[in-house]
Amino acid sequence: MQDNEATTFTSTFEQEVHEGLTAHPKHLSSKYFYDEVGDKLFQDIMAMPEYYLTDCEFNILEENKAEIAELFGKNGVPFSLFELGAGDGKKTKILLHHFIEKNIPFDYRPIDISQNALDQLEKSLKEEIPQIEINTLQGTYFDTLRDIGNTNGRRKIILFLGSNIGNLLHPQAVDFLKNMRDSINEGDLIFMGFDQKKNPQTILNAYNDKAGITEAFNKNILARINKEMGADFDLDKFLHWEVYDPETGTAKSYLVSKEEQEILIESLELKVRLKPWETIHTEISQKYDDAVVAWLARKAGLKILTEFTDSEKNYKNYVFKK
Ligand code: AVJ
Repeated sequence: MQDNEATTFTSTFEQEVHEGLTAHPKHLSSKYFYDEVGDKLFQDIMAMPEYYLTDCEFNILEENKAEIAELFGKNGVPFSLFELGAGDGKKTKILLHHFIEKNIPFDYRPIDISQNALDQLEKSLKEEIPQIEINTLQGTYFDTLRDIGNTNGRRKIILFLGSNIGNLLHPQAVDFLKNMRDSINEGDLIFMGFDQKKNPQTILNAYNDKAGITEAFNKNILARINKEMGADFDLDKFLHWEVYDPETGTAKSYLVSKEEQEILIESLELKVRLKPWETIHTEISQKYDDAVVAWLARKAGLKILTEFTDSEKNYKNYVFKK
């Protein structure tokens, strides 16, 4: 075995940065976009006119909240509403308000990787909907699905909005859906958002806004490595680059090095060399159609109960059961 100096990592973030920046080609995971700055940037993205996803899903929930309430609160049986990647809960609040208004018995269990997002969500909910029973849970999707599986008693509804599934490649998405399947019982439901294939230009515009918000969001991973690992990335020496393949439906984000550079990451004791125009792949945002969603569901052992969409079919929410 090669005797490299053993690097000890103090977090999975450190470990994954080390792996990703010593790999060929280089990559970093978009799950690390989200610290306090990243959460705020993502909120700004959701408010941009180009980022159609949020408005679409907001309208779908608003238009269908009565039907959704019937589906979730079947025969007045109390349920626990889990939400993976809850974020600021802006869309979920449509449902929460409606459930409270209709006296539907439920409790809300938002889950997010960002403790900051959870704290803000809990605070705003206590002000806006004080009647609500809320329990937050910090962690990655994979950790928390285990916890969901272990809670017994109430009927479970799992929300996974925003097309967050799109950050996963299909094989990972299948694993993830299988995990979700294993954490629910007969009669429980999974309610998920899937952004749909559409005019490729519309998709490119959503991930490449002129104001540069998405660029700042993508580069925030470098800013985080600077802050948290004592690195010296110069953000101006990188381009934000987006590609979309209409055949596969995969949008991919890159950071492209504009010049030859060497970056020191102190806590990793790592020097990273980048050639001119070398890439760091940071995010995929997968787009779907009915056939692909049906295939994912079948692979994961889930059935599609029903779906909701907008008039242009730009975005869909599917309801799955075991
Ligand atoms: C939160 C993962 C759904 O991929 O559309 C927005 C994140 N990235 N703009 C997406 C994101 C760039 C977003 N998700």
